[in-house]
Amino acid sequence: MIDSDDNHRVFNFSAGPSTLPLSVLKETRDEFVDYKGSGMSLIEMSHRGAHFMAVHEEAKALAKRVFRCPDDFEVLFVQGGATLQFAMVPINFLKSGNRAGYVISGSWAKGAFSDAKPYGEVYSAFDGANDNFTRMPLSEEIQIKPDTRYLHITSNETIGGIRFPKWPDVDVPLIADMSSEYMSRPVPFERFDLIYGGVQKNLGPAGLAVVFIRKSVIAGLNTDAARYLRYDIQYDKDSMFNTPPVFAIYLLGKMLKWMEGEGGLDAMEQAAEEKSSLLYDAIDQSDNYYNCPVDVSCRSRMNIVFRLPREELETEFVKQATASDLLNLKGHRSVGGLRASIYNAMPIEGVRALVEFMKNFRERHLE
Ligand SMILES: Cc1ncc(COP(=O)(O)O)c(C=O)c1O
Repeated sequence: MIDSDDNHRVFNFSAGPSTLPLSVLKETRDEFVDYKGSGMSLIEMSHRGAHFMAVHEEAKALAKRVFRCPDDFEVLFVQGGATLQFAMVPINFLKSGNRAGYVISGSWAKGAFSDAKPYGEVYSAFDGANDNFTRMPLSEEIQIKPDTRYLHITSNETIGGIRFPKWPDVDVPLIADMSSEYMSRPVPFERFDLIYGGVQKNLGPAGLAVVFIRKSVIAGLNTDAARYLRYDIQYDKDSMFNTPPVFAIYLLGKMLKWMEGEGGLDAMEQAAEEKSSLLYDAIDQSDNYYNCPVDVSCRSRMNIVFRLPREELETEFVKQATASDLLNLKGHRSVGGLRASIYNAMPIEGVRALVEFMKNFRERHLE
């Protein structure tokens, strides 16, 4: 497609970094060289100056407002993406005498579990391997041991294409990696001590994690870690312990403002339901030509995974889709198949175009 400024734009189904709204990109472009009459770009300024401080404050306020964060939580911006949080969570929360349970729901949960092991006692509270990671556990299937400080969940598995249809109801605080469905559905904050996610899917560019932490737990966290890795210091320093990733925070703020303008969390949730239903319907109504391998009750609304009858057809599908400006539909290299990531910024037109392409492809390649 060619947009009104003669740019070539495609529908980008990448799992992350991923598509952003055109209006956000254009506004960023227009402000880039001379930020608000300052004679310099935002990325050339001191992070302690008035311009960036305003950007930072607004991004924080928007993050709390859009996500409906209650007053007993604070939002932190931490570099290192979601991966650094895999380590920061146990570094801060695990002590001798406590432990943490992990729901092993797929690749990302395995990563979080593995990165926690050096820092204390962790155990698998549910292992989805028996079902080939095609579903999330019911609350009653999660086994919590005594002295468990937190249960870690991955609310949406980006590679496997599953999500928790209902939040786990357990007797210990939850900590969640929400990277690939961040701010696309309301969250019962009262069940959580901490929520984190990388922003490069639903909320902006890569490299930044947004962390929501319950304020009352901060004083009890470990302090024997490098300063950057301590939530208490990130909190005391207002996420400005070191030079923050100014451009990522600026774009996060723009993205959140766009979301608010679109109607906020409820609108994002409704759109996600509508867009994912279009795709799942196309799969379900294809006489098994397309096949979604995950449990229907746990289907992700962000990462729609599907297979074709043969691998060669999948390769052909990706090739022809690319030629039709429908990009990045190849599944993760660890599982193969196809995957359409339809985050908050993916317009419904993109999903409609993909559904149309799927119908035509099937007709052309029925055997
Ligand atoms: C669910 C989930 N968790 C964690 C990560 C890692 O995020 P980052 O690359 O920001 O460290 C990803 C990245 O795709 C992810 O999908």
